Amino acid sequence: MPFPSERLRRLRTTEPIRRMVRETSLNPADLIYPLFVRSGQGRQDPIASMPGQYRRSIDLLIKEAAEAQQLGIPAVILFGIPDSKDERGTSGLDPNGIVPQAVRALKDQVPGLLVITDVCIDEYTSHGHCGIVREGKILNDETLDCLQTMALAHAQAGADMVAPSDMMDGRVGAIREALDRAGFEDLPIMAYSAKYASCLYAPFREAADSSPSFGDRQSYQMDPANHREAMRELQLDVAEGADILMVKPALPYLDIIAAARATYPHPIAAYQVSGEYSMIKAAAQAGWLDEARAMLESLVSIKRAGADLILTYFAKDAARRLLAG
Ligand code: PBG
Repeated sequence: MPFPSERLRRLRTTEPIRRMVRETSLNPADLIYPLFVRSGQGRQDPIASMPGQYRRSIDLLIKEAAEAQQLGIPAVILFGIPDSKDERGTSGLDPNGIVPQAVRALKDQVPGLLVITDVCIDEYTSHGHCGIVREGKILNDETLDCLQTMALAHAQAGADMVAPSDMMDGRVGAIREALDRAGFEDLPIMAYSAKYASCLYAPFREAADSSPSFGDRQSYQMDPANHREAMRELQLDVAEGADILMVKPALPYLDIIAAARATYPHPIAAYQVSGEYSMIKAAAQAGWLDEARAMLESLVSIKRAGADLILTYFAKDAARRLLAG
């Protein structure tokens, strides 16, 4: 008998064989493209720490979203960059604020594209926290009222889905109730369920100018050391009516994605966050990594771990490469 008898390399000899036995496939339809929107006309402000990403005015946002749709990407998620911020994040609650305006324009001019909105006040508060602040504390239940108002403003503008990212307790239930009361019982909620207090949001915070002016987010976002607690977060969001469960960030939390997949039949989303994007971009710019390969390997790994959907700033690039084969 020749040795070894099991030769796994037999199924790796040619590209057609490798393609035939490939266990995980990545498709443009798996991707959700995060976009930042600001006021003005013809504005496309680069975000220094996120090469290739911009804060766009609505006219250019429409162009970008239409291109994404052309590439087979089914959905975008919107983050608002308001003109003014205050203690209570008032500009985020305005039914004519930047996100509701963008939603209306996208629904009108890019028909068929799914428009998801991020629901959280941190982009709109002067202190940068995701909740109402009193005496240095982030208040949970007062924040729920704001989230309900914001989710309703987005729904009334025509959003197809809302995605609360604040990590206040009870927000999914509160938003569900507010939506149902207003006749939006068919509007799905994608909950940022297991959202960790990660250093990897730093480039996003530069983009949204939303770094907390004091303290940090550890009193509401999760400790990176915890796994069982993520299961409790997921369980609560399921009980409160979440339709899609999200884990965030993605690549350092593949174990959490896999556990969410194994435990719940719900669609699982994972957010490849700004810092994950920027790390790959920076290494590629330095000539240390092949950008396209690093991008596709990270995305397929997130999918293999169990994510059905991936929020990624690479969405257009990835879709382009996937379509090219
Ligand atoms: C909060 C929110 C954040 C991100 C998405 N929603 C920032 C934060 O929690 O500080 C980060 C996304 C990313 O880093 O790409 N509205």
